[in-house]
Amino acid sequence: MIEICSINDLPENEIVKKEIKNHKIILIKKNEKIYAIENLCSHMNYPLDDGELEDFEIECLYHAARFDIRDGSAKCLPATEPIKTYETEIKDNKVFIEIS
Ligand code: FES
Repeated sequence: MIEICSINDLPENEIVKKEIKNHKIILIKKNEKIYAIENLCSHMNYPLDDGELEDFEIECLYHAARFDIRDGSAKCLPATEPIKTYETEIKDNKVFIEIS
């Protein structure tokens, strides 16, 4: 796992974009857990960080596809394919991510 940031860099329920080893990633902290998804909509490959977060779903700004940040699954059209998710871990107030 690779260290990506401090837990203090992540306000609760906010979309935070990061780039690490050529991976564009969104991190979201919710209830002391960190969710990490690829910053790429599976519909037309626009970034998702301009989107809106509601509960555990992120809505793409461009054509309103929604994805579950817990497993990346597509929740409505026009997206039919999931987005990539990453495993995360918190240790000593640092956030680590599994990049494969
Ligand atoms: S690019 Fe995200 S819904 Fe079309």
